[in-house]
Amino acid sequence: MEMPIFSLRLQWSFLLVNLVLCISSFKLESHSSTPTFGNETDKLALLAFKNYVANVPNGVLSSWNDSLHFCQWEGVTCSHQLQRVTALRLESQRLAGSLPPIENLTFLRELELSNNNLHGEIPIELTNCSSFRTVNFTRNNLTGQIPLHVGHMSKLLHLWLGTNNFSGMIPPSLHNLSSVIEFVATDNHLSGNFMSNMRFSSPQLCKFGKAMNQFTGIIPDTLSNISGLELLDLGDNHLTGKVPDSLGVLKDLYWLTLDFNSSGRGMSGDLNFLNSLTNISGLRLINAEGNHFGGVLPNSIVNLSTQLQQLVLGENKISGNIPKEIGNLINLIQFIATWNYLTGIIPTSIGKLQNLGELDFGWNRLSGLLLSTLGNLSQLFHLNMSYNNFG
Ligand SMILES: *[C@@H]1O[C@H](CO)[C@@H](O)[C@H](O)[C@H]1NC(C)=O
Ligand SMILES: *[C@@H]1O[C@H](CO)[C@@H](O)[C@H](O)[C@H]1NC(C)=O
Ligand SMILES: *[C@@H]1O[C@H](CO)[C@@H](O)[C@H](O)[C@H]1NC(C)=O
Ligand SMILES: *[C@@H]1O[C@H](CO)[C@@H](O)[C@H](O)[C@H]1NC(C)=O
Ligand SMILES: *[C@@H]1O[C@H](CO)[C@@H](O)[C@H](O)[C@H]1NC(C)=O
Ligand SMILES: *[C@@H]1O[C@H](CO)[C@@H](O)[C@H](O)[C@H]1NC(C)=O
Ligand SMILES: *[C@@H]1O[C@H](CO)[C@@H](O)[C@H](O)[C@H]1NC(C)=O
Ligand SMILES: *[C@@H]1O[C@H](CO)[C@@H](O)[C@H](O)[C@H]1NC(C)=O
Ligand SMILES: *[C@@H]1O[C@H](CO)[C@@H](O)[C@H](O)[C@H]1NC(C)=O
Ligand SMILES: *[C@@H]1O[C@H](CO)[C@@H](O)[C@H](O)[C@H]1NC(C)=O
Ligand SMILES: *[C@@H]1O[C@H](CO)[C@@H](O)[C@H](O)[C@H]1NC(C)=O
Ligand SMILES: *[C@@H]1O[C@H](CO)[C@@H](O)[C@H](O)[C@H]1NC(C)=O
Repeated sequence: MEMPIFSLRLQWSFLLVNLVLCISSFKLESHSSTPTFGNETDKLALLAFKNYVANVPNGVLSSWNDSLHFCQWEGVTCSHQLQRVTALRLESQRLAGSLPPIENLTFLRELELSNNNLHGEIPIELTNCSSFRTVNFTRNNLTGQIPLHVGHMSKLLHLWLGTNNFSGMIPPSLHNLSSVIEFVATDNHLSGNFMSNMRFSSPQLCKFGKAMNQFTGIIPDTLSNISGLELLDLGDNHLTGKVPDSLGVLKDLYWLTLDFNSSGRGMSGDLNFLNSLTNISGLRLINAEGNHFGGVLPNSIVNLSTQLQQLVLGENKISGNIPKEIGNLINLIQFIATWNYLTGIIPTSIGKLQNLGELDFGWNRLSGLLLSTLGNLSQLFHLNMSYNNFG
């Protein structure tokens, strides 16, 4: 007989895991306090930038005036020796208007314009700036396609384009990813066959975020060639097919989101990739929610990293039992498997998960639960066991 036992919902802050940013392989020098020379070209370029972009009255750009050397203007960083502009960091400065074609700043390595209100397309001139290491346009309202030649910015290490309105396909020039360490294009309207053409020749790519787009196709085996991959975020797309078993060779992976809605074939073997992940010692998050994963929950999940904090498998077609030794995963904070076909009892070893905050097995076919087991879980703030076969 199905009956709701109890369901308690409290505020859940989803991001339990601190994102460890990759260490940049360069360091920008700070500006000199008493500049004696500079380059007029850079100053003119900055003034052109100021004229192009709209800013609120008394905004950051009002400090860009003759009372100070341009190397001391807010958001501007220059190289110590040459007094040339190396970084423009203008995040969250209420900049509006379209993105200026940044010209002549030949030493510029970092362009940080995230969290503003810039719109329009990325000017193609920008892809001529071969010295760029970091480009961050996160959280603006940029549209159009990612420029064709962006991949030719041969030294680019960090490319962040998330939460904009980019559309179209990933340009082929990015398929080689020969230098990029972080590629984040989350939350846009990018589409196309996901990565069939990607070569992943870069062993050091460490973050790869493409969630919330409309990519199709399968996840290629070749992803495992990116030996330095730390974060793989493929959530909310339309990817299909089997998840490659080879992901387990990514020894530095700590974050894996696959909640893209169409993967798996509703068949046994769909979750084999979980076996291979047991080889990754620092894995902290697996989210495979809302797909078509079938077959039994592999017992081998008890051998996943003891660092694992989030295991989210809800809304699939997973059958079988919750493995007896689930209590091995001592650092688990969130364990969700709602809307599956799990049967059997909830193992008593679950009482060992002393950090567990959220446990959700609602809408399964589980048949036994010892409440005393859960009594030990002092951190638990969300528990849902409703709609099972507890009798
Ligand atoms: C200023 O920069 C321009 C362009 O890079 C260069 O042609 C010029 O020689 C530089 N001038 C000085 C004084 O450094
Ligand atoms: C860039 O340099 C060229 C050649 O010196 C000059 O004509 C142009 O006005 C400069 N652009 C900006 C934005 O400073
Ligand atoms: C010029 O910039 C300085 C800071 O660099 C600022 O205090 C001053 O208000 C600015 N002047 C104008 C006219 O905006
Ligand atoms: C890019 O901007 C976002 C949003 O401001 C920020 O979270 C992220 O750390 C930035 N990335 C880099 C490489 O600076
Ligand atoms: C890029 O740079 C090349 C060589 O400096 C120049 O010929 C070309 O016009 C530039 N393209 C753009 C779009 O600025
Ligand atoms: C983005 O720009 C479009 C027009 O280009 C505008 O309709 C829309 O409101 C803007 N969105 C935001 C969040 O500013
Ligand atoms: C996104 O871009 C499309 C055109 O590509 C436009 O029709 C739409 O209004 C934009 N949406 C937002 C939220 O800016
Ligand atoms: C990828 O790299 C190879 C070898 O470096 C090069 O021949 C090819 O043109 C590149 N492809 C793209 C699309 O840039
Ligand atoms: C993956 O790496 C192997 C060697 O480690 C290489 O032979 C193969 O071509 C690579 N595959 C792709 C698609 O880059
Ligand atoms: C995800 O998949 C479910 C069932 O297959 C479907 O109802 C839902 O619309 C999909 N959501 C998205 C965002 O594609
Ligand atoms: C784990 O790694 C070892 C050594 O590389 C390998 O022999 C084994 O097959 C891997 N296990 C899984 C489940 O991938
Ligand atoms: C977990 O790993 C241990 C040691 O490698 C092995 O003996 C055991 O069979 C594994 N358990 C499962 C359920 O795969």
